[in-house]
Amino acid sequence: MQSFEFQTTNRIFNEIGGLSRTAEICGELEISNLLIVTDEGVFNHGLLEDIKSILKQNKIAFEIFKDVEADPSDQTAINAANFGKEHKANGVLGIGGGSAMDTAKVVSILLLNKGANTQVHLEDLSPLYGVNQITKPRSPLILVPTTAGTGSEVTPISILTTGETTKSGIVSSVLLPDIAILDASLTLGLPSHITASTGIDAMVHAIEAYTSKVKKNPYSDMLAKHALLILSNNIETAVINGKNLTARQNMLFGACLAGQAFANSPVGGVHALAYPLGGHFHVSHGLSNSLVLPHVMRFNESHASRMYCDLAEVIMADNMVNCTVTNSTEILANYFLQLAVSFDLPIKLRQVGVDDNFLSVLAEDAMKQTRLLVNNPKEMTYEDALRIYQKAY
Ligand SMILES: [Fe+2]
Repeated sequence: MQSFEFQTTNRIFNEIGGLSRTAEICGELEISNLLIVTDEGVFNHGLLEDIKSILKQNKIAFEIFKDVEADPSDQTAINAANFGKEHKANGVLGIGGGSAMDTAKVVSILLLNKGANTQVHLEDLSPLYGVNQITKPRSPLILVPTTAGTGSEVTPISILTTGETTKSGIVSSVLLPDIAILDASLTLGLPSHITASTGIDAMVHAIEAYTSKVKKNPYSDMLAKHALLILSNNIETAVINGKNLTARQNMLFGACLAGQAFANSPVGGVHALAYPLGGHFHVSHGLSNSLVLPHVMRFNESHASRMYCDLAEVIMADNMVNCTVTNSTEILANYFLQLAVSFDLPIKLRQVGVDDNFLSVLAEDAMKQTRLLVNNPKEMTYEDALRIYQKAY
């Protein structure tokens, strides 16, 4: 068997109502003053009410930082950390989508930076960017996803916006939380289009982990296949009947499995071409992936059709589809196209405000995603990326 490394979050509670364990978990982690890092959507939808009363009942002090924006900036992480320092927080709970969880990860590092009483500044973040640059411990960290997509609760990565459209990553096993809680009762109010696009994002994580060129390994393969099985069996119910708790919990679990897969066998071309759509046109991450996925898969066919066949068999198991290496790419690409159509998601770049004169800029930006492109099963040039955008247009 090939050598490989696999890492993930130490403890995961997969439990409807699991958020009620927060006080007990704070006790275990010796958190007496909790900083909750979240966004306004989570705050305004009342998703923190239960957690607030549980913490009060158990006399655990807490403060809420609710200003995490989509694609959070480096300054937001600094502000959240200084807010926590002012209130003498000794533990962090990140609750929300990928943005809130990614910010909470960095805040857990910054809380201990320069001592508890000294404020941090942007320059304190600079040495942390890149791979394995964190040399100090972090505060106790709990992560709670409120969308079933990013898998951030099990990835050692935090992405911050460091310029107008530039994103920088901090990658370190230190960023894996102590505990993740998957509690579907938090996802019941998600609008159907967000359930759809975040669910497709999770499925893309599984596909790209399974076809990843550099770190593909049997552990991630197993997780990717099982993630796709669960996600494909539940996504339609979760989108159509958002109040179905079982489907919602299954989506959270599937997204977590896919997160574990791609944390150890990273994503490639689909994500590389999706990011510029978010940067320039503010297309959501899941929708960006959905728009380019079928076209990247067709591009990858010569190098990935056998792997696509494995995955098509998982997804199509109930439909008695006979997948072969010659038809698997088209079957899988079409499955995702039809899924997007059935969820009323846009399927063309022109439908989300992309200007065709801008495709070359998108392709140039996609080429800058070298950390992702190296994982794509087939080498992708600028001309390839441009052709893919043109087909997706
Ligand atoms: Fe993603």
